[in-house]
Amino acid sequence: MGEEAQSSLDSIWESKDPIFADKELLDIEHIPDEDRIIGREDEISDLANGIHPAIRGGKPRNTLIYGKTGTGKSLVAKHVTRSAEAFAQEQGTRLQRAYIDCTQATTETQVVIKLARAFNDPDETDISVPLSGLSTNAYYDRLWRVLDARHDVVIIILDEVDKLQENNVLMQLSRAGEAGKLDTCKVGILAISNKISFKDSLDERVLSSLQEREFIFPPYDANQLREIMRHRKDAFHEGVLTDDAIPLAAAFAAQEHGDARKALDILRNAGELAKDDGDDLVREEHVRNAREKADVDRFSKLLQDQPTQSKAAVYALSLIADAKNDEEFATREIYERYEQLTERLDIDALSQRRLADRLNEQAFLDILGVTDRVGRGRGKGMTNFYYLLEDPGVVQTAIESDQRFSESE
Ligand SMILES: Nc1ncnc2c1ncn2[C@@H]1O[C@H](COP(=O)(O)OP(=O)(O)O)[C@@H](O)[C@H]1O
Ligand SMILES: [Mg+2]
Repeated sequence: MGEEAQSSLDSIWESKDPIFADKELLDIEHIPDEDRIIGREDEISDLANGIHPAIRGGKPRNTLIYGKTGTGKSLVAKHVTRSAEAFAQEQGTRLQRAYIDCTQATTETQVVIKLARAFNDPDETDISVPLSGLSTNAYYDRLWRVLDARHDVVIIILDEVDKLQENNVLMQLSRAGEAGKLDTCKVGILAISNKISFKDSLDERVLSSLQEREFIFPPYDANQLREIMRHRKDAFHEGVLTDDAIPLAAAFAAQEHGDARKALDILRNAGELAKDDGDDLVREEHVRNAREKADVDRFSKLLQDQPTQSKAAVYALSLIADAKNDEEFATREIYERYEQLTERLDIDALSQRRLADRLNEQAFLDILGVTDRVGRGRGKGMTNFYYLLEDPGVVQTAIESDQRFSESE
């Protein structure tokens, strides 16, 4: 532990970030001020109009929002409800909103527990909401009591609602007033989904009560994506972004169905790559490399909690997609590749039927795509065909970050 080691670290600690002035502005979770929100004026005012009655304690209209990823759905929902909450409180209305990410809370009970805990204050209500141990009905019962005790009106945002395993919670929440579960508190639901097909899974009654209003958020064009990034330019030190950086990132994200999340991911990654290179400018090449990195990161995140068997299934698919010209593959073809792979990885091979279960699970999670059509050869019945939603190279790089896969070459 010489003094030199100490001082060489000191020079790192003391140095200022050469690239970023305020990197948080580029975080996906960051909710920007209204003047940085581009091209969503109509959506914001439409949503606000539906929520308006809540400001004075009336029932907000239930709303369903659709649109592809990165079209600003979560942002607009959070922005408008945050503003409503603040305004209502100034008026003396006890309005509170709760945000549920249904990719995290996927069962009915998890959602009800989260809501009851979010809306509760045990010191005030004397009601406890334990993390586990009660029946679903008992949790509902506490939720209703908490709502009547503490709130005039609540707004519940159910983001990525298509990821819920059970729709009963939508029925309970959307009809709580009519069903006499609540005496005074009003409930408004804001359900958000990337998939328009979500509606097909809903009961008529639930659909009609959820769908008092419905919006579709369109994708952004390259101009809007450029504007969105320009309004976050102060994330970087002045002069660091070369002129090409934002337009190129916008062009990439526009190719990707106009996804603002992608645009901001690419821009942030480009800055990080420039920093790693010891460069003090963010150049075109950084943006190009960042695009690939953003794809890998996004895919890694999707896969991170997946068991090895599921990763092996996707990996097998990526290997055949690499080797063959076809894009879609039947379970049987994937299975052959998967069996070889399990030997190499030294793990047990699942049966073909179990592998099909895994593949369907992955398709549900948007890790893979699936279509069903008439199979090749033999029985000629309808068969599932699976395809990758990313380049095979991206998929492999992401999976190989798991050592088991990278070491088995
Ligand atoms: N109109 C917009 N103006 C500024 N930033 C936006 C806009 N739309 C989306 N973003 C940003 O892009 C990212 C993705 O948006 P998000 O609301 O999460 O999309 P979605 O929920 O539709 O997938 C977030 O960081 C968000 O702040
Ligand atoms: Mg979202």
